[in-house]
Amino acid sequence: MIHYMRMGSVPKKHHVTHHEDGKLLMEQCMTRVGFDSTYSILYYQTPPTDEFKVKSFEVKGFAPVKPIDEQLLHRRHIRTQDIKHEGDFLTGRRTVLMNDDVRVGIVKTSEPAGDAWFSNGEGDECWFAYDGGGVLESVYGTLSFGRQDYVIIPKGTPYRLHPENAKATFLVFESATYIDVPKQFRNENGQITMDAPYCHRDFRVPTELLRYDKSKHGEGPFKHVVKYSNQLSVHEYEHFPWDVVGWDGVVYPVAFNIKDYQPRTGTIHLPPTIHITFAGRGFIICSFVPRKVDYYNNGDVKAIPCPYGHASVDCDEILYYVEGNFTSRKGIDSQSISLHPMGVPHGPHPGTYERSVGTDTTSELAVMCDTFKPLKMTQFADSIEDKEYHYSWVRRENEAMETSK
Ligand SMILES: [Fe+2]
Repeated sequence: MIHYMRMGSVPKKHHVTHHEDGKLLMEQCMTRVGFDSTYSILYYQTPPTDEFKVKSFEVKGFAPVKPIDEQLLHRRHIRTQDIKHEGDFLTGRRTVLMNDDVRVGIVKTSEPAGDAWFSNGEGDECWFAYDGGGVLESVYGTLSFGRQDYVIIPKGTPYRLHPENAKATFLVFESATYIDVPKQFRNENGQITMDAPYCHRDFRVPTELLRYDKSKHGEGPFKHVVKYSNQLSVHEYEHFPWDVVGWDGVVYPVAFNIKDYQPRTGTIHLPPTIHITFAGRGFIICSFVPRKVDYYNNGDVKAIPCPYGHASVDCDEILYYVEGNFTSRKGIDSQSISLHPMGVPHGPHPGTYERSVGTDTTSELAVMCDTFKPLKMTQFADSIEDKEYHYSWVRRENEAMETSK
């Protein structure tokens, strides 16, 4: 939910007759938390409730998926840069980390979206477009997104994602519930506060209704793949099921560019929670963006901009490295995912703490996720893990070790 919006034709009141070309339209209420929370109401030419066939479906590494049997307590490094481009926005999805609240996946496409549409019946999704933009085509209309945008797609939204380049890379968070603006960034009336790290204007919304177009959507049967309970099913329709005449409400996809996030800097180091961007049940998503760093300077006593060693005893922490000065960190490269679990402390690699004193900026760009339940690796993640990472803090003679979070 960002703010109320309306597209196309909607009647004056909820739940009253509404026609197009003499035909009574079908109202569909997309409601959250039963009927007690946010909602949108859509008006369809033909009800999307008459699928004539339902079949099972599988995307290996995505659904069904399960964690590895045994996961020793380690700091971990998952080399997603080693994943091959394969499939489209749906068939190319691979889950790497999971718990009951959130799943973290990577999509590296090799082809445009196929004819199948997808909706996640388990929770909201947050896509991060690593290297290029594209178009999200959903029941709420067309939403263009750019490189390094987050795209939030509400639970239950049928969509296809069309990257502008066939080969595209995405980080995807899949919530077991919702993903939203943290409560502390809203005032009592729901408006984003003036001291939040972004404002309403930073969010981009669908711009064009989804109407049936034979040249774009074909003649059917139309396939809708639904994820629910860690499995996929394909629902087939004779007619295009999402010919939407209009809708209004506050549930719909939005795009937000990570560089529109307004970072904070203190005189001395502020905790990682100042980077919070979105929140779900049991996890937060944070944005590390280029910024000035801590500037306390009192003679010989100066701020240390490099993060202190920490044991955030209730959180697992993952970082997805995008661009910036982390490349000198041992073994870490763009697209790396590090997992620093609760139970063991973590901190800067040797040498980096000292070298940070006196620096005034950082160019790092990374996406972080903190979870309150332990994250488990999938078999797929296990196959691309750098098994030496946990020991990379051991200072060996004549070995230079560089930057850190
Ligand atoms: Fe940390």
